[in-house]
Parts: sequence; structure tokens; C-alpha cells
Amino acid sequence: MVKLSPSVLTSDFLTLKEIIPQFEASGVDMLHLDVMDGIFVPNISFGVPVIKSIKKHTNIPLDVHLMIDRPHRYIKEFAEVADWLGFHYEAGSDVAGLLKEIRALGCKSCLTIKPATAPEEIFEYLPLCDMVLVMSVEPGFGGQKFMPNSLPKLKALKAEAERQGLSIELEIDGGINAETAPLAVEAGATVLVAGNYIFSAEDIPATVKNIKSL
Ligand code: DX5
Ligand code: ZN
Repeated sequence: MVKLSPSVLTSDFLTLKEIIPQFEASGVDMLHLDVMDGIFVPNISFGVPVIKSIKKHTNIPLDVHLMIDRPHRYIKEFAEVADWLGFHYEAGSDVAGLLKEIRALGCKSCLTIKPATAPEEIFEYLPLCDMVLVMSVEPGFGGQKFMPNSLPKLKALKAEAERQGLSIELEIDGGINAETAPLAVEAGATVLVAGNYIFSAEDIPATVKNIKSL
């Protein structure tokens, strides 16, 4: 069964206290938290204090997606609140060093690539990754249209992970909805991030169940 990691980016944060129990009851696997610094991406979201507050209210594993410049500067702080901790290959940190540090700090490591980055560029880092996140929109905003060039990238990463004998979660993020989710699963995604699709649903538990049953 595919895993689901709802992204709270475009939600009304003050409603999360009521929505999180619905996620727990409907079998959500992770909660996706988008951290943006206004430098690596042209948008600013939230940081450690907000994640800490969310953590107090749930045992759902927190899937923190750092969209920040030179993420090594803040990795210790985020490792204290994250379960899965991911950063961008393009963000200017020592990639292998940071993946190792994330694991040493007790989190699952995740390496993320933007739409213009070829999957082959990160093949050498796969043994250090618990998850790879393929962006299917330009990072920065929720509610954008799914980019189909992410599908062959998932396929290539899946094949390479198998070739290296690794078991890695493959996550896709951006524009996931009822039409695009099956394509992503077919291409090899094991974790779907969905923001607008989940938070704009009339019946959140039913939507979660539908998407997970793909
Ligand atoms: C975009 C973020 C996404 C975003 C997804 O930079 O990384 O996680 O919230 O939102 P949707 O599902 O609406 O595209
Ligand atoms: Zn994200």
C-alpha cells in the first residue's frame, strides 16, 4: 500500500488540532512539513517552533522537507523535531556528510531533487539515503501543476536502488491528486505528498483512504 504524507503548507494552521486526529484515524503515514527560507525558494513558511507545536499533538512521524540554503547550518535543530529529515541536493551543503549526520542524529535521511536535476546525479548517494524525494513542481508553493518529467526520474531511481540492492522509499511531491497519484505509484513512488488535494477535500478521511488504496 502506498504511503501518504499530507503537506500542511496551504492549510489553516489553527485547524490542524482538529484535522490531525482525522489523519491518525484514517491511517496517514507521515506529516509533510515544508520549511522555506525565502532564499533557496522564493517563499517563507515556518521553522522549528511551529514543528515543535505540531509534534506535541501527534505521534504521526514528521517528514520535514527543508527548502533552505546551506541546510547543514540548521540540521541539529531540525533533527530534534523531525523523524524523516530531507534537504535539497542543490542547496549547497556537503551531500554525503549531511546524509550521514542526519542518520547519526537519529533521523531517517532524505535527499531531494528539483525538477531540473537528473536522477543520475544522486546515484552515488543512494546508500546513504532512507528516502529520495523527487519534486514534481518547482519547490516554493503548494497548488501547482504536476510535472510529468518526474515519472521517468522515479523509474530510474527505482531501478538504480534495485541494482544497488537498496531498499529506499521514493517520495513524490507537488501536484498530486486523484489523476496524478496513480501515475506516480506506477512509476515507483512509495510515498505520496499531497497538500491542496487533501486539505481542500470535503471529506478528508475518505480522500486519505482513496489515495492510499491505489
Ligand atoms: C512545494 C512543497 C509541497 C507542497 C505540495 O514546494 O514542497 O510539499 O506543499 O502541495 P500540493 O500538493 O498542493 O502541490
Ligand atoms: Zn514538500
